[in-house]
Amino acid sequence: MTAKPAGLWFGGDYNPEQWDEKTWAADGELMRRARVNTATVGVFAWSLLEPEEGRYEFGWLDEVLDRLHRGGVRVILATPTASPPPWFTLAHPDAMPVTSAGTRLWHGSRDTYCAAAPAYRRAARRIAGELARRYAGHPALALWHVHNEYGTVCWCDHAAAAFRCWLRDRYGTGRRGLAALNDAWGTAFWSQRYSDWEQVLPPRATQWLPNPSQLLDYRRFWSAELLAALREQRDEIRLHTPSVPVTTNFMLPDYQVLDAWAWGSEIDVVAVDHYLDSPGPEGHADIAFCGDRARSWGDGRPWLLMEQAASLIYAGDRNLAKEPGRMLRDSMGYLARGSDSVLFFQWRASPAGAEMLHAAMVPHAGPDSRVFREVAELGRVVERLGEVAGSTVAAEAAVVWDADSAWAMENQRFTPAGLSYVAESRSWHGALWRAGVVSDFVPADGNLPRYRLVLAPALCLVSDDGIAALREYVAGGGHLVMWFFGAMADSRHHARLGGTPGGLLDVFGIRVEEFCPLPDGTRVALSNGESGAVWSERLRADGAEVVAGYADGPLAGLPAITRNAFGGGVAWYVSTRLDGDAADRLTARVLAGAGVRPVVAGAPPGLEAVRRHGDGGRSWLFVLNHTGHPCPVAASGTELLTGRAVTGLLEVAPGAVAVVREDGAGRA
Ligand code: GLA
Repeated sequence: MTAKPAGLWFGGDYNPEQWDEKTWAADGELMRRARVNTATVGVFAWSLLEPEEGRYEFGWLDEVLDRLHRGGVRVILATPTASPPPWFTLAHPDAMPVTSAGTRLWHGSRDTYCAAAPAYRRAARRIAGELARRYAGHPALALWHVHNEYGTVCWCDHAAAAFRCWLRDRYGTGRRGLAALNDAWGTAFWSQRYSDWEQVLPPRATQWLPNPSQLLDYRRFWSAELLAALREQRDEIRLHTPSVPVTTNFMLPDYQVLDAWAWGSEIDVVAVDHYLDSPGPEGHADIAFCGDRARSWGDGRPWLLMEQAASLIYAGDRNLAKEPGRMLRDSMGYLARGSDSVLFFQWRASPAGAEMLHAAMVPHAGPDSRVFREVAELGRVVERLGEVAGSTVAAEAAVVWDADSAWAMENQRFTPAGLSYVAESRSWHGALWRAGVVSDFVPADGNLPRYRLVLAPALCLVSDDGIAALREYVAGGGHLVMWFFGAMADSRHHARLGGTPGGLLDVFGIRVEEFCPLPDGTRVALSNGESGAVWSERLRADGAEVVAGYADGPLAGLPAITRNAFGGGVAWYVSTRLDGDAADRLTARVLAGAGVRPVVAGAPPGLEAVRRHGDGGRSWLFVLNHTGHPCPVAASGTELLTGRAVTGLLEVAPGAVAVVREDGAGRA
């Protein structure tokens, strides 16, 4: 079951409860002008829908759904469980979240609950069920949006009890289970041996360094606990509306609380929220990073961009406005990579509240504004592209995505300063993006043979299954690249002994015997004229070809980058951090060796091209010109934004986008 591909979905979060009925009427007219066909409703409406425990007020929402339906707008109906009403706090103070340091939090913001508290789970399930009962059969209802951005964690006693349950499932019950847990957590270290299950707690604030295996299991536990909460609501909803698909929205770019692989298979369509954190090329590449992950988490199916910002973006420590034209190009970036929607947070800028200054499709200034004019233009473009809905994107390369490694790297004593899993993954995905190559993401123990090339940056934790899959992949002809501290630990967060990459020494033809982090701000010269930073490793080539060695410092003369033929494939190892240009040069070499080609051969830097494939051999070439000058690209067919025929060569204006329905002649 997937969201029905009736054209592309265009619109955003709609919060009419913040406005009077006069504004509702104006909204109808403006949505028509902007060709809005989708509204996400009710995300934060719990206190209005259930003003007292068990008493519901659905009248206003009936009116909203009816109006939207009359205006031809489909509804994504949210369950409002991300923000319980104030009465809930007073009725169930034990369901308020507690920080790791023991501070209980109170209402007055949002996401204030412990998702492991039985009272919260009951209340969430009940309001989801009431909504589903009420709106089953409503003609506007197109998709359920369960909760909003699952990710809130807690360290209270309810969480402790649920954590112990999860641990018993994983390690077994009774004394045997406890022994397995003691072993997995390495509790012989620092006298942490547990002699009774009741002693096992969440990793609450500790006097000194916490236990990394316990931290990792707590991350895994919360991903599973939140998924259980989603399932409860989903199943309740399906009782009443079995044919309406269900989603939940993942928060990107670097909010890493969920194991997205486990979640992707539990929802009918993957939806993501994406807010740019950088204005320039980093931002363009980040849209691709977002889109490729969203598509992969749904196993290649079309996905939904549930939220983006029409203008203001949060870039580091400041807000920046998107420049004119940027919203259109960004939106095409998501569509190019398999999104079937262009949706925003939010339709109308809130008049009050913590996000008062957040950009919206209708800004505070009203429709007579640059932003609204661009929104209306975007609506026209999205409508013209309706035929791409349901089509998919193919990739020959993939980047490993691994929540365990991401969580392990949160442990500061484990990770070199300044490195994060998401940043490393983003930077190597960015190298593929700059090379014009579209890539998927894949779990380390996933279907690797589907790809000619697999990159595994920052893959510090690898399970035994993952080790076997990587080994078989290379043996069977795959090209694999792994980076520093790769496979240094197993899935319990225990060191792999005997040198790293543990379990793969023969595959890489090397043995790393010592980690040698580099002091902040220093670089180490390499024999090929490049340099490395942040990290270096003392490694020995046991059969691998040395592509580059360390040229100065204590490791001078030893290998830094290696390449090894193993079975039918090739395994590369990169023991230091390369900057952008050096990374691009290495990427070009690796891609050539693996036979992976860019979507469009010879595209100039800054011209992004992605192809979507439909039934019956149909295809559409999306071209985004991120540069300040016109760029030519080989294409043949019909350009859908202008309706013009393209015969062999398309010139894309600076900052512009084009989508060509291909007639076959332009395809490589
Ligand atoms: C998230 C939320 C929205 C809103 C936006 C602001 O993605 O889902 O409710 O807070 O962020 O960027």
